[in-house]
Amino acid sequence: TETKVILGIETSCDDTGCGIVDTQGNLLGESLHSQHQIHLNNGGIIPPLAADLHRENVDRVVQGALKKARLNVEDIDAIATTVKPGLPMSLKIGTKYGKYLCQKYNKPFIPIHHMEAHALTARMIDKSIQFPFLVLLISGGHCLLAVAQNVDKFLLLGDSIDDAPGEAFDKLARRMKLKNLPEYATLSGGQAIELAASKATNPLQFEFKPPMSAYKDCTFSFAGIKNICTRYIIKEEIFKDLAPDEVIPDVNNLCAGFLLVITRHLCHRLQRAIEYAARKQLIPTDKQTLVVSGGVGCNNFIAEGLEIVCSELGYRLVRPPPKLCTDNGIMIAWNGVERWNANLGIYKDFDNIDIQKS
Ligand code: KG4
Ligand code: ZN
Repeated sequence: TETKVILGIETSCDDTGCGIVDTQGNLLGESLHSQHQIHLNNGGIIPPLAADLHRENVDRVVQGALKKARLNVEDIDAIATTVKPGLPMSLKIGTKYGKYLCQKYNKPFIPIHHMEAHALTARMIDKSIQFPFLVLLISGGHCLLAVAQNVDKFLLLGDSIDDAPGEAFDKLARRMKLKNLPEYATLSGGQAIELAASKATNPLQFEFKPPMSAYKDCTFSFAGIKNICTRYIIKEEIFKDLAPDEVIPDVNNLCAGFLLVITRHLCHRLQRAIEYAARKQLIPTDKQTLVVSGGVGCNNFIAEGLEIVCSELGYRLVRPPPKLCTDNGIMIAWNGVERWNANLGIYKDFDNIDIQKS
């Protein structure tokens, strides 16, 4: 069959991304505009501001990817765009723009589920990954364990009852005022805590108990540990008479304790998921693969923990490179390719397709 070219657009949160991938899985062009630094300075994402920035940048980002691929919109065979889940105002910008391009150049539109895109990207870089496989998505907005059974079929094993892990990293890093230290100024919360933890002089000073260890399911929780750490920081600030922008003395050890308990929690849930999948025979023994994706998947300490569980239980761990783990347009284009190749959810008539809740 003839090779086709799919363009993908991502605007679900705070990254404006575009990727161009062909139906063989070759990456032809890409471009990304991150709003990360702006939101970091505001102490969090302000949704109308995020939408304004997507509106300002989406055209330039798409044209940038086309230029790198040395292609025009006319050469593209279909346009894939994230329509769910995410910040509604942000999703609207990409969806409107993608549909506008499809209308103008008479191309089919492929609506994409952001989480499915995160889960499937690993298949672009490792063509040996076949359905069904286990997937752990950990980022600033999501936390879930699922069995990817097909391009559009996922069995959810568990998700978080409160924060996503990246959200807990970001909130705690902000509370620790790590951004006040020059070395950390441009890092995400997760990167900052990973770096601080690596400098711990006594990594076991704080031994936090993994949450919900009595529950034998795949449910996650991160807010409790974050609150315990926050209470410790407040106590230090009061009783050590710290200046308003001063970082607590034990910050590196606290980061190490936090990173360790989160890793242990993720490892417990992964072990549960693997045992459950085995009991229910959800994944044939010759295909046992775990895909880890999402921004928190970039954390090497967490990955080492997950690797230990995987090798103990006979699973192969696949982790896409950081630029494919965090939000990007390439994963949206690749999901478009997966849908194109499976002939699933490709719309020539897309007037009524809009952003969706989940
Ligand atoms: O996937 P992503 O770009 O956006 C979504 O949340 O969808 O992930 C961003 C999140 C942030 O919360 C950030 O703190 C976290 O991923 N993150 C990390 C690391 N790098 C990014 N968390 C832990 N360790 C890291 N090295
Ligand atoms: Zn994401």
